[in-house]
Amino acid sequence: MDFFNYKDGKLFCEGVDLSLISKTFDTPAYVYSKKTLERHIDAYIESFTSSNNLVCFAVKSLSNISILKILKDKGCGFDIVSGGELHRVMLAGADPKKIIFSGVGKSKSEIALGIKNDVLSFNIESSSELYRIEKVAKDLGKIAPVSIRFNPDVDSGGHDYITTGRKGDKFGISSIEDILNLSNHISNSDSLKIVGVACHIGSQILGLDSYKAAARKTIELADKLLDLGIELDFLDLGGGLGVPYNGETPPSPNELVACLESELSERKERIIIEPGRSISANAGILLTKVEYIKDEFLIVDAAMNDLLRPALYKAEHDVWNLDKNNAQETKVWNIVGPICESSDFLARNISIPAKEEDVLAIKSAGAYGFVMSSNYNSRPRCPEILVDEDKFKLIRKRESLDDLVRSEINPDD
Ligand code: LLP
Repeated sequence: MDFFNYKDGKLFCEGVDLSLISKTFDTPAYVYSKKTLERHIDAYIESFTSSNNLVCFAVKSLSNISILKILKDKGCGFDIVSGGELHRVMLAGADPKKIIFSGVGKSKSEIALGIKNDVLSFNIESSSELYRIEKVAKDLGKIAPVSIRFNPDVDSGGHDYITTGRKGDKFGISSIEDILNLSNHISNSDSLKIVGVACHIGSQILGLDSYKAAARKTIELADKLLDLGIELDFLDLGGGLGVPYNGETPPSPNELVACLESELSERKERIIIEPGRSISANAGILLTKVEYIKDEFLIVDAAMNDLLRPALYKAEHDVWNLDKNNAQETKVWNIVGPICESSDFLARNISIPAKEEDVLAIKSAGAYGFVMSSNYNSRPRCPEILVDEDKFKLIRKRESLDDLVRSEINPDD
């Protein structure tokens, strides 16, 4: 459910006519709906029957500080994967005791930053990482809280590039024996404390079966740890709930939470989840203008550097014309950008009315949209705009040509 709707043929975000935003900030531009974000996070938080359970938003899906602040104000925690994301959530005023530090390749300095900021847990993904965290904590004279991310060998379906919980994927630790040995090591360490176990099986998951399977394997593991005398504060079931991009019908956040609470109803540990896309995707769109029409191509001013998902995963995003009553006839188009690659498409075989100078909205672009954008072809990155009822404000400026070269050292200087 989102708040992008036509009113008298004009596309609105909440109470704002999007053509006003395109005129004010030009295109391409990302626009987010505050009400949609709040509705999605509320759907998770209100579905939990116990307030001890925690929703940690996956910052990688949408990381603008203004957005993080909205979620933080709703009581949300954060799942981070880098020192950069930690920096962002701290700037947004996050409660460190609601921060989970995930990721397979944490550097020494990132670990030190996490320890100094007192995060809730490091989700560790290998024995080498565990020993590194132990050493960094020891050098700092601190005790690092850790959870082992295990790989439950559950196939969550979907695109091969975003499935993470199968044996052979680079994520988590697969061998239960290794996990138990490492857990014993943690229990005997003066610099580590085990606080949970974690798993995250993939992204754009469209059914509950793989969550159930992962929850059951998590319980088995937690029981084995209990047999060793190791009690945990939480079980972290990761993120991954899908969204409707193109007619898909994923479970709702409420159905996911009800399913997890029912699977874990006998457990004393808190439940943590790490949703990203299901909160942010449908809260954002990418506005782009039709520059030229050639044959069946709409050549627009946004490109794969602005929204990489279609090029990288052949992802399909719906596209709407801001002016629904556009006098042009509807045709089947391929929407492509100005970048010199044939993979530079934003949508293919899409049926919409369009003419040159029209502004289009690429839907469901809030997650893994701006955050995956780049300067490829020396294109400045888009601005980001936040709509709140009938008001809107810039939350990130459009990059300038000077921004593009700001960090470069000019050989003539
Ligand atoms: N937790 C961990 C440890 C993760 O790796 C991820 C996503 C999430 C939570 C959040 O998953 P979500 O709820 O957003 O599905 N760029 C791809 C998606 C990559 C997801 C990576 N990990 C895309 O555009 O489809």
